[in-house]
Amino acid sequence: MTKVITYGTYDLFHEGHYRLLQRAKQLGDYLIVGVTTEDYDRTRGKLNVIDSLMTRIENVKKTGFADEIIIEEASGQKFRDIQRYQIDIFTVGSDWTGQFDYLKDYCKVVYLERTKNISSTMLRAKNKRIQRIGIIGNGRIAERFIPEAKHVSGVSTQGVYNPHFESALRFAEKWEINAYEKAEDFYKAVDAVYIASPHGTHYEYIKAALEHGKHVLCEKPMVLEKEQAEELFSYAKGNELVLMEGIKTAYCPGFTNLLGIACSGRIGAIRNIEACFTKLEHPKSRGLTDFQYGGSLTELGSYVMLPIIKVFGRGYDQILFHSINGDNGLDYFTKISFKYPNGIATATCGLGVKSEGRLLIAGTEGYIVAEAPWWKTSYFEVHYEDPGRVEKFSDRFLGEGLRYEISDFLSTINGSSKNKFKLTRGESTAIAEIIEKFLEENRGHENMGA
Ligand code: CTP
Repeated sequence: MTKVITYGTYDLFHEGHYRLLQRAKQLGDYLIVGVTTEDYDRTRGKLNVIDSLMTRIENVKKTGFADEIIIEEASGQKFRDIQRYQIDIFTVGSDWTGQFDYLKDYCKVVYLERTKNISSTMLRAKNKRIQRIGIIGNGRIAERFIPEAKHVSGVSTQGVYNPHFESALRFAEKWEINAYEKAEDFYKAVDAVYIASPHGTHYEYIKAALEHGKHVLCEKPMVLEKEQAEELFSYAKGNELVLMEGIKTAYCPGFTNLLGIACSGRIGAIRNIEACFTKLEHPKSRGLTDFQYGGSLTELGSYVMLPIIKVFGRGYDQILFHSINGDNGLDYFTKISFKYPNGIATATCGLGVKSEGRLLIAGTEGYIVAEAPWWKTSYFEVHYEDPGRVEKFSDRFLGEGLRYEISDFLSTINGSSKNKFKLTRGESTAIAEIIEKFLEENRGHENMGA
């Protein structure tokens, strides 16, 4: 008996898939089809798959060509499957020519000609209107947004708005997008907005964008006051608009996996969380000199508060801030201590002090540790009482990682998101509330936005 194996996502099942499976079956007597899981697709950069795993398996089954269907969960699995199922022929479409030659030592590798003019990517693009995204503010982070958005099918970067029109123009020329001098023209030209302006301006821009009927993805910290977050989220909800805070860590696959393990009970009941993120900056950098951008808590605090709020929630009994401030009153090193009914946590951030930059989640049966840069989670370990027992997890974190939040933003707009738990309104509001408390205690209102 000749055994054949092939793999694919089979999203929005189409003729190309059908013909591939038909010919794969004809290569032998028994065909095994591997269908990718959503997590695997996300980690290899295939975002926005529309059909669920069950639907994709059902569609492969319906063709009648597959004698057995398995799921493909990780890279490296093909090699193991070929040995386990004693495969004679591995086959895929010609878009992969050469890429699986390394399997030739174990079985025959056949590249079947790909059916022309059809792909899941094309169907996904046809199914949905492309969301035209406009950027407000054109600093460092906006520079990263444009190349990242190119990895997400279904969005296009339409243009940029900045009250300093000259600066917007230079940015627009560089990235070959439009620059808008008047906010009204900008809003007319876009469906959704990405806000990457100084923190203190976020609230007004979000409000204006929502009032123009636009969906909003706003860089962290979304706003600096609890009431502002509540008002904006409720306005967005009431008007069926999406408002999301862009803390990139929250949307990346590795961090989602880490949280899943933390909350699964694998390390018992969680008692302590320590999250640290520090960055050395030039003493004259804007984070250390300009209230619009700094200091350490407004700049980095969202990252270190995220795992604490995700795991322990918003019900802390006590919160304390300790900061080291520069002469200008800006904090350059801050520790937030949380006391919960059954646990404690510390969030540490710094722009002028270098520390270890680790995330540690300790429980009654073990602990999870992710080293810097854990905010771009690609690797973490789970340790137990027995020092010899260590579980290791890795996930891909592609590029600058903004593609994950852009992808979730798009699927939320399209109503197909299964990812709303990744950063909820309540969690964003809780983070805004902590920032507000900190600014009141550390700076006093008179300094804010100065
Ligand atoms: N395939 C094919 N002809 C097509 C499209 C896909 O022969 N027009 C083959 C692929 O080469 C692969 C299998 O079908 O062996 C599953 O491919 P998959 O990646 O799921 O489909 P695509 O349409 O290529 O998906 P995408 O556009 O998301 O890459």
